[in-house]
Amino acid sequence: MKDRFYITTPIYYVNDKPHIGHAYTSIASDVLARYQRLRGFSCYLLTGTDEHGQKVAKSAAKAGESTSSFTDRFAGNFLSMAERLNISHNDFVRTSEQRHKICAQAFWRRLEERGDLYDKLYKGWYAVRDESYYDASELVEGADGTRLAPSGAEVEWVEEPSIFFRLSKYRDALLSHYDAHPDFVLPRTRMNEVRAFVESDLWDLCVSRTAFSWGVSVPGRSNHVMYVWVEALTNYLTGLGFPDEGTPLFDYWPANLHMVGKDIVKFHAVYWPALLLSAGLELPRRIFAHGWWTNDGEKISKSLGNVIDPLELIASYGLDRVRYFLLREVPFGEDGNFSRSAIVRRSNEDLANGLGNLCMRVLTLVERGWNGKIPPRGELHDEDIELLETFRQAESLLQKRMDVCSFHLALEGIFGCLADADRYITRQAPWALLKNASGDGRDSSKDKVRAGTVLYVLCDCLRMAAIDLQSFMPASMAKLLDMLGVGDEARDFKSRATQLQEGCRLVDVQAIFPRLESQD
Ligand code: MSP
Repeated sequence: MKDRFYITTPIYYVNDKPHIGHAYTSIASDVLARYQRLRGFSCYLLTGTDEHGQKVAKSAAKAGESTSSFTDRFAGNFLSMAERLNISHNDFVRTSEQRHKICAQAFWRRLEERGDLYDKLYKGWYAVRDESYYDASELVEGADGTRLAPSGAEVEWVEEPSIFFRLSKYRDALLSHYDAHPDFVLPRTRMNEVRAFVESDLWDLCVSRTAFSWGVSVPGRSNHVMYVWVEALTNYLTGLGFPDEGTPLFDYWPANLHMVGKDIVKFHAVYWPALLLSAGLELPRRIFAHGWWTNDGEKISKSLGNVIDPLELIASYGLDRVRYFLLREVPFGEDGNFSRSAIVRRSNEDLANGLGNLCMRVLTLVERGWNGKIPPRGELHDEDIELLETFRQAESLLQKRMDVCSFHLALEGIFGCLADADRYITRQAPWALLKNASGDGRDSSKDKVRAGTVLYVLCDCLRMAAIDLQSFMPASMAKLLDMLGVGDEARDFKSRATQLQEGCRLVDVQAIFPRLESQD
C-alpha cells in the first residue's frame, strides 16, 4: 500500500466569480499534490465551495435570486475554474450537499457529547465579509471614524441567542501542540502570530446563529444554524466520508496540509484544531498560509474594479505560463504584486529564452545529426559528469524545498541547473563539432561522437528538468517528455534516477514556449 498524503484547498465562497487569489491557492495545492504523486504517494486533493452563511445569502438576495440557484451558478464557476486551471482534485465538496450536512451534524454531536457546547446570548461585533466575530479590542478605526475589523471589513453589532463552544478550555492543549510542532503553521511568522493570539485572552467561540436560516441546522435545535466557519471546516472530513471512519478513504486523515491564505489562518490553526481535539480526531499535520496578491501595487477589490480574472489570464498567456509565474515570481508565503509586464518578462526570460531555447537548440541538432534519434553516449568527460551530477543531485534539494512549500526556491533551483546546461552547451559548442564532422564526411569521426555525447548529456538533463517541472507546468512538460520519447511510465521520481535510452526517437519537436510580445 502506498503512503498517503492528503491536501486541501480552502473552500471558496460562492458570493462572487473566481479571481486570482482563488486560482493561486488552488494552483499551489495542485502543484504539491502532483509532486507528491510523482514521488510515489497516494495523494488525495480536495477542493470545493463554501455556500452557507450570511455573506452568500446577502449576495443572492442582492442578485434577486434564490440562494439555491445562485449558489448552483457560482459553484459551477468554481468547478470550471478548477478544470481550466488543470487542478487534479480527487473530489469537490459543495457544502450544500447532503453528505456535508450529515458530516457537519455528526461532528457537532461529538462536540455536544464532549460537553463543550452551552447556550448564551451573543452580544458583540460581527463582520459579514469575513464571517468572523471580533472582540472590541481587535477593532480598528476607519478613515471616517467608524469601527472596522482588522481586515478592513465593516462590522455590525449583533445580539442573538447562540450556542458557544468552550474554546478557552483548549488554550493549553493548543499551546503545547504548537510547542511540540513548531512547523504546524508555516511560514514561521504566521506561527508566531497564531501563538500570540492564543496566548492572549482566548474567548469561547460563538458557533451558532439564529438571525437567519441559510446554513446547516443544529441537530435538535431547528432555530439555530451552525456558524458557517465551524460547518465549513468540516468539509475536510466530508471529503473523506466522515462520520464513517471505517472506510479506506478515511485513512487519509489527518490532512498532511491545509493550504490557506494568510487571512484565514486563525480559523485553521486555532479554531479547527480545538474543534478536532473536542471531537476526538487527530490534528492536521500542517497549515501553510500564503500571502496576498495586489494588482499593480493596489489591493484587489471589486470596488476598485481591479479584480484579475484567472480565465482571462489563461486566455492571454496560456495556462502553464500563469501557473509558473504565480509560483516563481513571489516567495511563497509573502505578498506579491501582479502586473502584466512581469508575467511577460518572466515568461520570456525563463521559459522562452531559458528553457525553450535550450530545448530547441538541443533537439534540432539531434534531428539534424542523428535523424531525430537520441545519440549514443560516448565516453564521458569531466564536464559531462559534472553537469549530470548537478541535475541528479538537484532532486534532494527540490524535495526539501517542496516539503516546506518553497515553490519559488524549488523553481529557482531547477532553472539554476538549466542555466548550467546553457553554459555547458555554449562551451561544448556541439554545432561546431557537427560542422567539423560533416566537413570530414565520416559519421564515426571523433567530433561526431563527441557532439553526440554532449547532446545525449543535454537530453538527459532536459529529461530530469522536465520531470521536476511537471507538477508546475503539467501540459507543457508532458509535451517536452513526449518530444524526448520518455514513456508515461518513466516520468516519476523513481524513473528520474534512470537514464535516457540511446536511439530512442524524438517525437514531434516544436517550440514549447514561444516568446510573448513585450507589453512595456
Ligand atoms: N470560505 C472561506 C474558506 C473556508 S475553508 C474551510 C474563504 N473563502 S474565500 O473565497 O474568501 O477565499 C479563499 C482563498 O482565497 C483564501 O485562502 C484567501 O486567502 C484567498 N484569497 C482571496 N483573495 C486573495 C488575494 N488577493 N491574493 C491571494 N489570495 C487571496 O475564505
